[in-house]
Amino acid sequence: MSSNGNFTPPKTVVLVGLMGAGKTCIGKKLAQALRLPFVDADVEIEKAAGCTISEIFEEHGEVYFRDRERLVIQRLLEGPVQILSTGGGAFMDELTRNTITEKGISLWLRADLDILVERTSRRNHRPLLRNGNHREILSRLIEERYPIYEQADIITESEEGSADLTTRNALQGLHDFCQAS
Ligand code: S3P
Repeated sequence: MSSNGNFTPPKTVVLVGLMGAGKTCIGKKLAQALRLPFVDADVEIEKAAGCTISEIFEEHGEVYFRDRERLVIQRLLEGPVQILSTGGGAFMDELTRNTITEKGISLWLRADLDILVERTSRRNHRPLLRNGNHREILSRLIEERYPIYEQADIITESEEGSADLTTRNALQGLHDFCQAS
């Protein structure tokens, strides 16, 4: 098989999906299973900017943030094969999406609205969720973004309550994709 992670993907695996889908958690588990480094694009954007994502949004706005995000993801995709978690809006940016499609393997972690609402309610650090009802905002983002996320190379359901099961499914999807391409 291979859901034990006994293979190496030929390109960096890029996790995409909405806030609360579990990209960081599953990304770290995938990295461990595949013995690859894990990197989080949002953390790298913060390091490069010397401030938090919320501060970037507040001081410079979303367009500026997307520009930084695009550059950081381009840079990370020039590096060695790794597991890369991206912020929920990254794959929505056409240029970023094209870079991911060309240089990486995209894996969409798909989650239902209830799961996203529950998971995002635990913390309040996300600028897009600050001013309004999480359920309404996430439901609108699902409508806007899911048709685009569907273009990902691999789609894995983010299972409620079992990160290990989701990781196994992601590994299987990744393995099958790599065999077929
Ligand atoms: C965003 C998601 C966030 C972060 C920023 C914008 C989005 O990342 O990049 O707040 O547009 O969905 P997570 O998806 O990791 O929370």
